[in-house]
Amino acid sequence: MMIQVCIGSSCHVKGSYEVKTIFENLIRENQLEEQITLRPAFCLGNCGEGVSVKIDGEPISGVTTENAADIFRQYVLKG
Ligand code: FES
Repeated sequence: MMIQVCIGSSCHVKGSYEVKTIFENLIRENQLEEQITLRPAFCLGNCGEGVSVKIDGEPISGVTTENAADIFRQYVLKG
């Protein structure tokens, strides 16, 4: 599985670094280092609704430090 976190300037301002850190910690806590590749991505073309993320190519907008863990549970752990 591939998780891309936009580090374009608009998403950066909205906290993409923190979102990426949350994902990193969740990957570690769930011992998914082997299964998940976490990559920074340049502008994913949805700046107005950042932070933008793609999980296996599926675009997800509006990711924040508050909802990042829920999104991880929903899309990565699937429940
Ligand atoms: S800067 Fe993140 S979608 Fe454009």
